[in-house]
Amino acid sequence: MTHSKLFYLLASTAITALFTACASKPAEINVIPQPSHMTRGKGYVHLKGDNLTTRIDTTLTNPEGYRLTADKGRVEVVGGSEAGLYYGLQTLDQLRDGTDYVPVVTIEDAPRFPWRGMHLDVSRHFFSKDFIKKYIDMLAYHRINTFHWHLTDGIGWRLEIDKYPLLTQKAAWRKVKDAKSPWLGLELSDESRRDSSDTYGGYYTKEDVREIVAYAKERHITIIPEIEMPGHSEAATFAYPEYACPTAKPGSGIYCPGREETFTFLTDILDEVIELFPDAPYIHIGGDEVGKEQWSQCPLCQQRKRTEGLKDEHELQSYFVHRIEEHLNAKGKAMIGYDEILEGGLAPNATVMSWTGFQGGIKSANAGHDVIMVPLDYVYFDHYQGQNPCEPQAWGGYNGVKRVYEFEPVRPEIAPDKVHHVIGGQANLWTESIRTPEHVEYMLLPRLAALSEALWSDTTARDWKRFERKLDRQYDRYAEQGWNYAESAFTPYITEQRFNDDGSLTIRLATELDGYPIYYTLDGTTPTDESTLYADSIVIDGPARLTALTYRNGSAVGCVLEVPYLLNKATRAAVTYATPYSPAYTGGGDSALVDNRYAFKRGDDKAWQGFEKTDMELTLDLGSVQSVSGVVLRFLQHIASTSVMLPTGVTIWTSTDGNQYKAVADWGIEPDTDSEVMIRSFDIPFGEAQDARFVRIRATNMGTLPEGHPRAGGSAWIFTDEVVVY
Ligand code: ACM
Ligand code: ZN
Repeated sequence: MTHSKLFYLLASTAITALFTACASKPAEINVIPQPSHMTRGKGYVHLKGDNLTTRIDTTLTNPEGYRLTADKGRVEVVGGSEAGLYYGLQTLDQLRDGTDYVPVVTIEDAPRFPWRGMHLDVSRHFFSKDFIKKYIDMLAYHRINTFHWHLTDGIGWRLEIDKYPLLTQKAAWRKVKDAKSPWLGLELSDESRRDSSDTYGGYYTKEDVREIVAYAKERHITIIPEIEMPGHSEAATFAYPEYACPTAKPGSGIYCPGREETFTFLTDILDEVIELFPDAPYIHIGGDEVGKEQWSQCPLCQQRKRTEGLKDEHELQSYFVHRIEEHLNAKGKAMIGYDEILEGGLAPNATVMSWTGFQGGIKSANAGHDVIMVPLDYVYFDHYQGQNPCEPQAWGGYNGVKRVYEFEPVRPEIAPDKVHHVIGGQANLWTESIRTPEHVEYMLLPRLAALSEALWSDTTARDWKRFERKLDRQYDRYAEQGWNYAESAFTPYITEQRFNDDGSLTIRLATELDGYPIYYTLDGTTPTDESTLYADSIVIDGPARLTALTYRNGSAVGCVLEVPYLLNKATRAAVTYATPYSPAYTGGGDSALVDNRYAFKRGDDKAWQGFEKTDMELTLDLGSVQSVSGVVLRFLQHIASTSVMLPTGVTIWTSTDGNQYKAVADWGIEPDTDSEVMIRSFDIPFGEAQDARFVRIRATNMGTLPEGHPRAGGSAWIFTDEVVVY
């Protein structure tokens, strides 16, 4: 054996030994949410069973706080209450990270806000008792202490009420065909639907609720029930039309404040709810999005306005909310309502949940009311968390994990002496588009980790870069617990795209979470970790199909970014429009369809160009006569909540001189009634290659939206993002 070989052997043995030792100790401190005050010392404490002590010390300032010391061979966790101890032990668990070693550390930690909430809509789709428990586990893991349970809404009343059994027995929505969306193919039904395996039916018995409340309590979570009123109550007003306006259709969804019996009905229900949730300091009564037309047309409502001296329907709503609040307060409960309860004057003791933005919360806090911030463009988890078409259909909007992390409930517009009225924040998860537990988990994780840190940690302890690093480990923790999380934050997306003077195209990519390798190809094949590694930018100087994919720990993660047809014959052509695009959806103007920018399936993606009530007709000037043999067009269809429909057909003409045009394709498009948001690409070949400088394209607008469409009778839009000529 040579000297150098021996050295190598010794060195590698030492390295192996070092790695073995490290492997049984956590590599770094990785706690989510970040403790507010933490000092790390050198080395580790080996936990052996008898060197861990726990106790409760009620002199700690915040009962939810704790102190954790690991030093001199001992670990001690002191909680300000059972809850504080629970959180301290959670921190200990993450410090150990599956090992018997705790880094030497001193932690003084307490939550920033007393209300750390997470909501779930079980009305639009029903979720079983067992899943609710799993949901509570996920909340507790992230130190959420309030579960806002949205139990009643349009499509389903999910809570057993003894006095009004028809709420859960009669007013269920019935699937009338194999509909994929609750907007389509559903109608109110007289049938009893008790089968909780049917996500459109199902409800919780009182026994179920007691079990769930107890389960949550063991995990230091208070459940705040929400019983929606006076709107969002289609199921209830279908079962009991006698509490809606006499002029309204059954299932109209809005209670009648003109009828005295309405208040009896609702306070009866609330009394049963209060009994079921003895530890809930609040009852949430919704109060959002009440269309007031039904009240304007109702003689009883108009009578009520006169006798109570109310000047409009906003004041009528305010009258309604006041009366409900009075009842709740008399029973020892505080009332929460969404920010619309500000309309017409706020109830005297109400706590406001500000969802349309921060404004309602700012106004209420400055007026001395407690508020919970739930702004939809930060913490609505029914919004997309990624910009790739692989994302399951979501409501719209885009709240990626970084956006959630940036959520700051305390706004500068709130007076310093009113800041304490911001009791916290929460994220909401509406389930119109969410049918399965796996999908709920996907929408929740990892965004809940970001929410957790935003609501728990001191502002001085918040740091996106550190959180980003910690999240890497958090994904593994989710996997270990069998929780389904989204990998959206790993999927590459285009951050910048520009043409260079020589006609080439420079593209820059990123992922929401930094530090992972992205591989790409330009031939449309799926990248592997042997494909080109993305560095600073990609320069494309000829026709290409870009695909990009991220790797983590040697495996592909997230979805493939696919950008088809870069630098085709239409690229940078001059476009003239025979029909105008909408000023609200320009897609970027006259060059929008030839700029190689492809849109996401959100209707509000700026790359879409929209045509309202009109066909799309335009002519491309390719600059010179070329041989062309076909066109690719892309359109959006978004039935569920917009009027954007596929066109019914496409006609194409070509010309060499811009005067004489020749029809080269007449393409019919079959209507598709699927309510899933879809982007459809149509490759339209000409019968034979044509010499052409000009290509004229007309896509025919559907016109009037057909029967069965949620906006039937309205006018259709066309949305398109790119024209390709090959
Ligand atoms: C709400 O999202 N309508 C409260
Ligand atoms: Zn009425």
